[in-house]
Amino acid sequence: MTPLDEAATILPNDLSAFWMPFTDNRAFKAKPRLLARAKDMHYFTPEGRALLDGTAGLWCVNAGHTRAPIVEAIRKEAGELDYAPSFQLAHPKAFEFARQLTGLLPEGFDHVFFGNSGSEAVDSALKIALAYQRAIGQGTRTRLIGREKGYHGVGFGGISVGGLPNNRRAFALLPGVDHMRHTLDPAQAFSRGLPPRGAELADDLQRMVDLHGADTIAAVIVEPMAGSAGVIPPPKGYLERLRQICDRHGILLIFDEVITAFGRLGAATAAERLGVMPDLITMAKGLTNAAVPMSAVGVKSEIYDAVVDGSPAGIELFHGYTYSAHPLAVAAGRATLDLYAAEGIFQRAAALEPHWEAAVHSLGQARHVTDVRNLGIVAGIDIAPREGAPGKRAAEVMQMCFDAGALIRVTGDTIALSPPLIISEAQIDELIGRVGEALQRVD
Ligand SMILES: Cc1ncc(COP(=O)(O)O)c(C=O)c1O
Repeated sequence: MTPLDEAATILPNDLSAFWMPFTDNRAFKAKPRLLARAKDMHYFTPEGRALLDGTAGLWCVNAGHTRAPIVEAIRKEAGELDYAPSFQLAHPKAFEFARQLTGLLPEGFDHVFFGNSGSEAVDSALKIALAYQRAIGQGTRTRLIGREKGYHGVGFGGISVGGLPNNRRAFALLPGVDHMRHTLDPAQAFSRGLPPRGAELADDLQRMVDLHGADTIAAVIVEPMAGSAGVIPPPKGYLERLRQICDRHGILLIFDEVITAFGRLGAATAAERLGVMPDLITMAKGLTNAAVPMSAVGVKSEIYDAVVDGSPAGIELFHGYTYSAHPLAVAAGRATLDLYAAEGIFQRAAALEPHWEAAVHSLGQARHVTDVRNLGIVAGIDIAPREGAPGKRAAEVMQMCFDAGALIRVTGDTIALSPPLIISEAQIDELIGRVGEALQRVD
């Protein structure tokens, strides 16, 4: 046993100090689920029990856990440059990484702005959109449009454009925000990939233009495939229609690709996979394989040029984070993108998709299941809520899977699966088998 292994087996005897995020603290602390180590496709509990990771952590460990090239890169950088500010100073590798990243993004996305979390990427993208409109003489465009069921993190910008009621109702929100309807359609349950009907829901944006005036709207932000609300792939033609309406009215289109970038949908971005180009792309999670927190906004040249060249001499955008382009995150990011390329991870995900789709849809036959949705290596499985106890049945399925050796994620009464993209076909079958068994057993 290495000293690290030993440390991992020491259990905390007081769980009270850590106020856990997005957690039922009382229930968790009464019956904790602890993860002490991880390798490739598995987590290990402090007792050493293996759990097949059906969630890539939180949609983020796309290349699998504790991969040696990433670990080594972080170790090396920690001894070389612990920290360097990015305000009026910088370290060389930040520029190299930015180039490497823009090389992966769709054509025209030649600039990136770094943050530390998806929430920060979203707030940065919203601010960049507002700064751009101002820079091109469209300063009356201050309104932001989001969508019901959207999740854009937890900053005040993100919850304002987001559309998950629980995340919004206790807090003050930004003014001047409106929401399009979501695209989840129970009449199209069990669709495979993109549901065929619903493109016209994009016309909600046109209605907002008609109501508020295009000259008040700066940007619209959507997840190209909604993740946190329970995996909602866009209807065929929906994103294309949104793009057309944005073009017609000078509205910027922001794709929040915090989940969908870096191979999750079998391509570098959902924009590439789905063939629709936004103006700004937010990324996080898979950017560093989650080994060090980092996020980025991909920015088209015309936006960067308008803001940077269009400003008087001096700081062009009064925005940034102490840890923007942190050296350890840059090191992790560079090693991660190299690893994705060396192992053809995005192509691997694309090749696995037919097996994944067939496996997850086999759960359509299981007890309680009311819908199965999939795209890339993601699946959402809706189960009927127990009378008077929403979310309870799904929570029990999650616990049963945990006890049986598989980690899955549930939101409300939806099971969301998004394993690391190095998963094998046999491991897909194992994961789906565990979920199926739990569904058969749960009341
Ligand atoms: C689409 C999307 N945007 C933003 C976020 C927020 O990211 P973070 O939790 O890193 O702030 C998430 C997190 O799941 C997300 O899925």
